[in-house]
Amino acid sequence: MDLRIKSFKEYEEKYKQSIEDPDHFWDQIAQTFQWQQAYKEVCKWNFDEPNVKWFLEGKLNITENALDRHLATRGNKTALIWEANDPNTPSQKFTYRELYERVCEFSNALKAQGIEKGDRIVLYMPMVPELAIACLASARIGAVHSVVFAGFSANAMADRINDAQAKMVITADGLNRGAKQVALKTVVDEALESCHSVEKVVVFNCLDWKVNMEEGRDVWWHDATNGMPAECKAEVMDSEDILFILYTSGSTGKPKGVVHTHGGYMVYTAFSFQNVFQYEEEDIYWCTADIGWITGHSYIVYGPLLSGATTMMFEGVPTFPDAGRFWQVCDKHQVNQFYTAPTAIRALMACGDEHVDATSLSSLKVIGTVGEPINEEAWDWYYEKVGKGNCPIVDTWWQTETGGIMISGLGSLSPMKASYAGYPLPGVQAVLLDQEGKEIEGSDIEGYLAIKNPWPSIIRTTYGDHERCRTTYFSHYKGYYFTGDGAKRDENGMFRVIGRVDDVINVSGHRFGTAEIEDAIDNHENVVESAVVGYPHEIKGQGIYAYVVCEIEPTDPDAARAEIIDIVSEQIGKIAKPEKIQFVSGLPKTRSGKIMRRILRKVAEGEPDKLGDTSTLLDPSVVDDIVQNAL
Ligand code: WT7
Repeated sequence: MDLRIKSFKEYEEKYKQSIEDPDHFWDQIAQTFQWQQAYKEVCKWNFDEPNVKWFLEGKLNITENALDRHLATRGNKTALIWEANDPNTPSQKFTYRELYERVCEFSNALKAQGIEKGDRIVLYMPMVPELAIACLASARIGAVHSVVFAGFSANAMADRINDAQAKMVITADGLNRGAKQVALKTVVDEALESCHSVEKVVVFNCLDWKVNMEEGRDVWWHDATNGMPAECKAEVMDSEDILFILYTSGSTGKPKGVVHTHGGYMVYTAFSFQNVFQYEEEDIYWCTADIGWITGHSYIVYGPLLSGATTMMFEGVPTFPDAGRFWQVCDKHQVNQFYTAPTAIRALMACGDEHVDATSLSSLKVIGTVGEPINEEAWDWYYEKVGKGNCPIVDTWWQTETGGIMISGLGSLSPMKASYAGYPLPGVQAVLLDQEGKEIEGSDIEGYLAIKNPWPSIIRTTYGDHERCRTTYFSHYKGYYFTGDGAKRDENGMFRVIGRVDDVINVSGHRFGTAEIEDAIDNHENVVESAVVGYPHEIKGQGIYAYVVCEIEPTDPDAARAEIIDIVSEQIGKIAKPEKIQFVSGLPKTRSGKIMRRILRKVAEGEPDKLGDTSTLLDPSVVDDIVQNAL
């Protein structure tokens, strides 16, 4: 069960073994889990179709490994701690046995509501224990969960429900987020006007609000679970059966459903969790992400619970009631491993040192970051102020599609360098490619980050559209998984991930496709066309800058901007709204009609003197207008 590597030397040995004989390496790890039927083959793959399968013909249920397996030895150990939005609301704790019972109870409720193996369930929930319970219950009965972050709009949710043809939505009346409350059920009601696959809606009572309950369709969580037995046999799943779908943005308009499966995801999330955080049996671990994103799936729910860890879930935000909340909570629960995003670190750093200085943070052993590159200033502050100079920072690079952490230090074992994620985990062959797809050898070099071999939690397909999976990840460079990121490798072989090289913008660690935002903006009746690019933003990492061409020049530009922001909020969600909107007479296009984003990016970055060659433009004069009126 202890999957931990315990020295850097051991890491180097294990890494070598994992590349020379990956089947043997992963077999040894996978053997430590509980299989209902042994797998016959470790891995079978080709990256051309792609077709990747792990632990073939193995039968299991991930929740038996995350819950049942621990009952004998850890039944009374705390599995989950819940810290509420309001510091005055008591926190909740669930032992492994209690969590097991709650999951079984809800599994039975799902079945009673007509959910069967293979059905898709969309979760649109607050960060409450019931969200984790709902994920696990879905997995236990062989249903497929698809969590939609509770900041997405009704439209965005409807797209995801329809793409997955979900049979059920699980939601709440509303949620607490800092000083605000957000109505969730009304958003679900609106979404369901354009979704016909949904038969049932389960509503968790979070705020004691009176909400619309549609007869025959909507049922309260407490009514659905009332009288349900606290035992529920786990469904026998094939290793390659779908565990969940999680939608993420790409360079085209429509978000895609990334598919992960039971067996491989289980093995890789547990292995990476224990190693990256160097988790020890008595530790309290806290990841501040929302379960609406992959970080929450892999490193709040599955990785920690599979490892028998104590994992914490936080309902609130870093700055409520004040900018010391994270640090107060670390002290309150004596957190040993703390995992957050660079954007949160930068935001808290900007609030001054007094908040962090007012707390002890002496329980911390390892601190981590994820989601975007961390700049050196934020890294230094995190290291000195939060880690007090004696906690290693694990800068973890990975993606929704990779399922688990791919490049990162392992607790204090690995060498550390500010703004470098470091070395790949065992089993991961990270390479840098040039434009032609040739591997770049040597050190102190830069290229496109790609992975040469499969690892157990690699994306299997994009739901309902396998061809899209192939073209997005496996067709740019034959024989490689293409990450969409650019990276550097230093003289010691450490990796630094620089950022996206495709039309994806990373705002506060969240991914948006430029096309997705443009499609939303173009819905405005006065908009002819638009182009969206990212620009450096002090707190968010990147901000969204939109260039908009109108049919009739807006007489009140601020009012027009507000309308555009409303449309983006409506189509995608408030989290995707552009920071800057510039009205322009035209977009810089080549003679073949392609928008030259390079130029727009330079202007947005405040470097109009570095536009490069503009002679191939259809109408170079639009550039002058853009530069002169830049925001
Ligand atoms: C993209 C993936 C993985 C969970 C959160 C985001 C960027 C992620 C790092 C890091 C530099 C990073 C990449 C990647 N990214 N971690 N440590 N250093 N960049 O998941 O929404 O799938 O986004 O986030 O650009 O491709 P995601």
